[in-house]
Amino acid sequence: MISLNIEKTFGFISKEKVSAYDAEVKAAQEMLEKGTGKGNDFLGWLHLPSFISKEHLAELNATAKVLRDNCEVVIIAGIGGSYLGARAVIEALSNSFTWLQDKKTAPVMIYAGHNISEDYLYELTEYLKDKKFGVINISKSGTTTETALAFRLLKKQCEDQRGKETAKQVIVAVTDAKKGAARVTADKEGYKTFIIPDNVGGRFSVLTPVGLLPIAVAGFDIEQLVAGAADMEKACGADVPFAENPAAIYAATRNELYRNGKKIEILVNFCPKLHYVSEWWKQLYGESEGKDNKGIFPASVDFSTDLHSMGQWIQEGERSIFETVISLDKVDHKLEVPFDEANLDGLNFLAGKRVDEVNKMAELGTQLAHVDGGVPNMRIVLPSLNEYNIGGLLYFFEKACGISGYLLGVNPFNQPGVEAYKKNMFALLDKPGYEEESKAIRAKL
Ligand code: PA5
Repeated sequence: MISLNIEKTFGFISKEKVSAYDAEVKAAQEMLEKGTGKGNDFLGWLHLPSFISKEHLAELNATAKVLRDNCEVVIIAGIGGSYLGARAVIEALSNSFTWLQDKKTAPVMIYAGHNISEDYLYELTEYLKDKKFGVINISKSGTTTETALAFRLLKKQCEDQRGKETAKQVIVAVTDAKKGAARVTADKEGYKTFIIPDNVGGRFSVLTPVGLLPIAVAGFDIEQLVAGAADMEKACGADVPFAENPAAIYAATRNELYRNGKKIEILVNFCPKLHYVSEWWKQLYGESEGKDNKGIFPASVDFSTDLHSMGQWIQEGERSIFETVISLDKVDHKLEVPFDEANLDGLNFLAGKRVDEVNKMAELGTQLAHVDGGVPNMRIVLPSLNEYNIGGLLYFFEKACGISGYLLGVNPFNQPGVEAYKKNMFALLDKPGYEEESKAIRAKL
């Protein structure tokens, strides 16, 4: 299970001040438990892990098997909360070079519907030309333009290449129970469907079929993922005292830092497989907290790669940042630095050391340098990359996000701001129903 260390924030904020959040956090926990806070119709994620049944997981695994048995490639069509969680888990657990491996143990997983790039979609359709592929179409609203557009292309290509009957077996929809175009299409075509519960918002939906189905298709153990999340649900429960509750401490510490002028939180990893965990986390916190002219700006870096770019800013730029490091304790493989007789590169001082030891010293050295440079530092220790630990990490961040949003005084479960660009885009594209907006926007151009 993950653990949290906030010692390296105490030069910037006091331990006493963080502990004093106890009462505020209790109130936030109570609002979540009793559903008395803002956005209380979107609290389905709160006890989701402990409610997921064995039968539900078995049904997901059965559908995953159909896709695994019949597809060389599976496309996950979705955007935002309808794609980032699945990608975060799949990339964290996959071999870094999985798509190059000759002996494939799972279909190649590809993502679409998260951009409107013509080149991306063209190149994808070209790549798929000689592939037996399937699609998981994920959209809660069922009307998201990016996803719907990609799915229209993929559906046609799948039907053209595999025939309508086979296409029906390898296209699965994850969407609302009743509403939206994705539901209408799935029902008309007779696709297998999974429902996204009404009371779970996109960015909190990784433990619904939105995340679980793609993760199962990629060959990972969704029972273990859910077990890790369920144990974390207990560890972060409303009945767990503040000092022992990692979600409470994380939420309190980041809010205390924010109240002391630290407006940007940088999520750091030293393992490239965690890149998409950061992308998922950015959406979770950015969409939940960035409103009412408030909110910590969630940023992320991959170290040591970005130490050679953003490292300068972090060390010496404006002192408005703090870091939260996801520190991976045990790596999966062993690789030692070889001894070299000539030592032309001068690296013999590392000979015989594990590459991970070098990485760990880079991590420790960076932490010390950044703290010396005025950057408060929190550390989340992830014991190893497996389903159980990742499930726990995801739930930890979700729970802390709910608490943190209430500490900030916003509704963490809505996202009114994401509608503005859509309205303008539809007006510019002359979508029926947007006639007035079209006129108004053209007058501005
Ligand atoms: O968190 C959210 O609500 C959003 O990021 C949505 O997940 C995203 O916009 C996709 O929406 P939908 O699932 O309706 O296609």
